[in-house]
Amino acid sequence: MTSTRLKTIAKHIDPYKKIADVGCDHGYLILEAFENHNIEFAQAIDNKSQPLKNALKNITQEGLSSKVIFTLGEGLENLWEEVEVVIISGMGGFNIIKILSNNQNKEIKRFILQANRNVYNLREFLMENNYRIVDEDIVDEGEKYYEIIVCEFTNEKQVYSEDELKFGPVLLRKRSPVFINKLKHERDKLTVIDMKVDAIEEKIRRLDEIICWQKK
Ligand SMILES: C[S@@+](CC[C@H](N)C(=O)[O-])C[C@H]1O[C@@H](n2cnc3c(N)ncnc32)[C@H](O)[C@@H]1O
Repeated sequence: MTSTRLKTIAKHIDPYKKIADVGCDHGYLILEAFENHNIEFAQAIDNKSQPLKNALKNITQEGLSSKVIFTLGEGLENLWEEVEVVIISGMGGFNIIKILSNNQNKEIKRFILQANRNVYNLREFLMENNYRIVDEDIVDEGEKYYEIIVCEFTNEKQVYSEDELKFGPVLLRKRSPVFINKLKHERDKLTVIDMKVDAIEEKIRRLDEIICWQKK
């Protein structure tokens, strides 16, 4: 069964039809995209042969291998030029930053990114490199929270506040129940720390403000 995380990532592919999944591993995201989002073509990219073999096996089993290019390679190095949406998920934020830093193709319409850690650093990189965050989602799975960032390359500098980099500009606006639960969870972790230094007090105060802040 496809995870909620991968299903939520795949929802952001629409309305595009040609995708590349960098770090495709078992190929589950590509299968979900064919099954529920009517894509025409996918490029499955991984820099290790075993994950790529797993993807090949799973995608072949579903009779979809003629619609998929399998690429053993590093990040976006051998990206097929017709790709509209690039997905990079389930990795650390700094690895995603490294992959995006080598992006030569400014024609890609959309990036869907999901970093398992260092999401702040990823948003900061996007801001400094002219990527506009157009949507975000958050899902919880197995007691972990996963933030999904949808962005587009632009020619303009983007500006995000410290709160927006930390919590996500769109997540702050959407204020979904999962997002509020994540903040409460962070707050609870801070309140059990015995040593009450000013920086921790300030973080708790800011989290309280955001949790209680009413949607206009
Ligand atoms: C933990 S899996 C995540 C799989 C899937 N994307 C997901 O979200 O569940 C990370 C995959 O990315 C691959 N990977 C890591 N760095 C990569 C890079 N620079 N280029 C291509 N693949 C990479 C790994 O080999 C691994 O198969």
